[in-house]
Amino acid sequence: MKAIYMDNNATTRVAPEVVEAMMPYFSDLYGNPSSMHAFGGNVGAKLTEARENVASLLGAQPEEILFTSCGTESDSTAIQAALQSNPDKRHIITTRVEHPAIKSLGEHLANNGYRVTFVPVDRQGRLDLDYLYKNLSDDTAIVSVMWANNETGTIFPVEEIAREVRSRGIVFHTDAVQAVGKIPIKMADSAVDMLSLSGHKLHAPKGIGVLYVRKGTKFAPFLMGGHQEGGRRAGTENTSSIIGMGRAAQLALDSMEDENTRVKAMRDKLETELLKRVPASMINGDPENRLPNTTSIAFEYIEGEAILLLMDQHGICASSGSACTSGSLEPSHVLRAMGVPFTAAHGSIRFSLSIYNTEEEIDFIIDKMPPIIERLRQMSPFWKDGQIS
Ligand SMILES: Cc1ncc(COP(=O)(O)O)c(C=O)c1O
Repeated sequence: MKAIYMDNNATTRVAPEVVEAMMPYFSDLYGNPSSMHAFGGNVGAKLTEARENVASLLGAQPEEILFTSCGTESDSTAIQAALQSNPDKRHIITTRVEHPAIKSLGEHLANNGYRVTFVPVDRQGRLDLDYLYKNLSDDTAIVSVMWANNETGTIFPVEEIAREVRSRGIVFHTDAVQAVGKIPIKMADSAVDMLSLSGHKLHAPKGIGVLYVRKGTKFAPFLMGGHQEGGRRAGTENTSSIIGMGRAAQLALDSMEDENTRVKAMRDKLETELLKRVPASMINGDPENRLPNTTSIAFEYIEGEAILLLMDQHGICASSGSACTSGSLEPSHVLRAMGVPFTAAHGSIRFSLSIYNTEEEIDFIIDKMPPIIERLRQMSPFWKDGQIS
């Protein structure tokens, strides 16, 4: 059975063009880019090209691009760098709906002598900006707000927040892991100081990330050792993955329009038809400011895990909450922060599309989902004869 893959916020297929670009660097072209000989130096030149491609995708300068091992490392590096560069400041502001890469670090720091403010969101997942601004203080070392939420796709007003935060002389970081490649980003015109992205969310392999660090931002390396990445991230470069990342960045620029037209239209059709055909279903998150590829739909009074199992029997891959939270029976912290009722949070399914999805796949899902939901509701103690019991 062919998989119908609608879980692209968890990870994406590596683009064939990316695989092709990477292959020589596993075999014939295995030189170390730091070597003095041309055999290594030629690989170094390819890394420079990859850095330029990533910089183009972000509207940034190549020197501002730092390759890391993943989005999580980029996030951690940004926060720790700001804290180390401002040792007198002991306060961090972030949000209640961040990915665990930021959330867990925030909780860890809160248990280790820092004051951490987690900004709340409303029922549609929109940030309480007044709360954020009121909490800015002379003691604040960094503010970190994700660009787009991985579970609901809600896009936050990052540029507006960055301008306000920077006017107070405070460093601003954004986790843009879900935003890059899906919506245009131009760091040259931006007030954002640091930005994280992850290769495997935009058709590059797993195990490669990027941290953008604006020129002039105070920085302290997380990994110390060799002089790689301009002394800002030690460790011999993951050459093939960096080259793959560079190719993926080129492809992302080319496919951005497709993402915002065809992919968005498929997402909208899927959502509209499911809401029409399935009673007691609703969208989680801000329907206006949203990534073009994501929809989180709550099918009330049933369990997300049961829905996923029945979908899996048809080869349909999606997610209940984020991949990281679906290992536990607790509803996701994002939906809880939004105040989504338990009966809806438990039955929430995230569909996240990519440019590789087709109209036929959408029609297939529209056809298969209503009977799945109906069957589970027949077994639900909360649902009797088409209504809530
Ligand atoms: C918003 C967000 N931030 C960070 C990460 C972590 O990225 P990585 O898996 O590359 O560590 C993810 C992955 O799901 C994410 O969605």
